[in-house]
Amino acid sequence: MSTPKVYFISGANRPNGLGFNLAKKLSAQADSLVFAAVRDPSTAKDLARLAEERKNLVVVKLDATSETDAKNAAELVAERPGKLDVLIPCAGICPMGSMRDQSLDDLRQAFEVNTVGPLILYRAFQSLLAKSDAPVFMPISSKAGCFAFVGMPMPTGYYGVSKCALNYLSAKLNAEDDKLCAFVCSPGIVMTDMTADGMRKAGMPPPPKEYTVELEDSVDGMVKVIGEARRETHGGKFIEYNGEPVAW
Ligand SMILES: NC(=O)c1ccc[n+]([C@@H]2O[C@H](COP(=O)([O-])OP(=O)(O)OC[C@H]3O[C@@H](n4cnc5c(N)ncnc54)[C@H](OP(=O)(O)O)[C@@H]3O)[C@@H](O)[C@H]2O)c1
Repeated sequence: MSTPKVYFISGANRPNGLGFNLAKKLSAQADSLVFAAVRDPSTAKDLARLAEERKNLVVVKLDATSETDAKNAAELVAERPGKLDVLIPCAGICPMGSMRDQSLDDLRQAFEVNTVGPLILYRAFQSLLAKSDAPVFMPISSKAGCFAFVGMPMPTGYYGVSKCALNYLSAKLNAEDDKLCAFVCSPGIVMTDMTADGMRKAGMPPPPKEYTVELEDSVDGMVKVIGEARRETHGGKFIEYNGEPVAW
């Protein structure tokens, strides 16, 4: 029997979200074992239903800000299968507002979930990633965190700051850990709850279709990127869902 490729994905609760659909797509692959994490497994009904159908999909409890949850999740993976190949921190929040007057607690919260959360996961799973032949750490980031897009007319300053720090953190982890392939991935603009709610709160109309990516295309693209990821080609970089490099 071949050893399965093992994935861990956070933020996998919402059926129209990226985390859920990455878990769905990856667990449809032969020889995969997918741990899909949500804040509260008792309310993650769609994921639970999918996990009932697929023996290689395991639902795990994880609040992205909790070191205890991350440690418990890593213990579960350590029991079975005892290694991790691909770690995908996908949980995220996007508090909308202007840097001039938005509550500083929004910035702290964005950092806790979007920046510190992925580092908590990396630390908890470090020893299991070390047991993989080709470990990958691929947090889901955003072009909103790039200097190249700082002029984008969106009230996403705090979100951008937290994703910019995530980008640096991931490149630095790649430099610190010489076996790991750590890089950030941009899913494109996908009309998930986060995008739709954020635009509504900001009083903005939905973006024109030509600027957005269908959920399925984004997820298919990211799965392909994961499959092709090598430290030599992807490590320390920012890669779009379509495999193209993103300017920092
Ligand atoms: N959609 C886009 O256009 C876009 C573009 C660039 C980057 N991204 C990134 O893609 C990732 C996924 O976002 P999405 O678009 O799929 O949005 P989404 O559907 O709103 O998903 C975000 C998920 O994060 C979870 N989450 C938030 N805070 C959490 C916490 N403290 N602990 C555990 N889970 C938490 C949410 O859980 P609950 O369901 O329990 O609330 C939700 O399932 C995010 O990191 C986002 O920044 C998205």
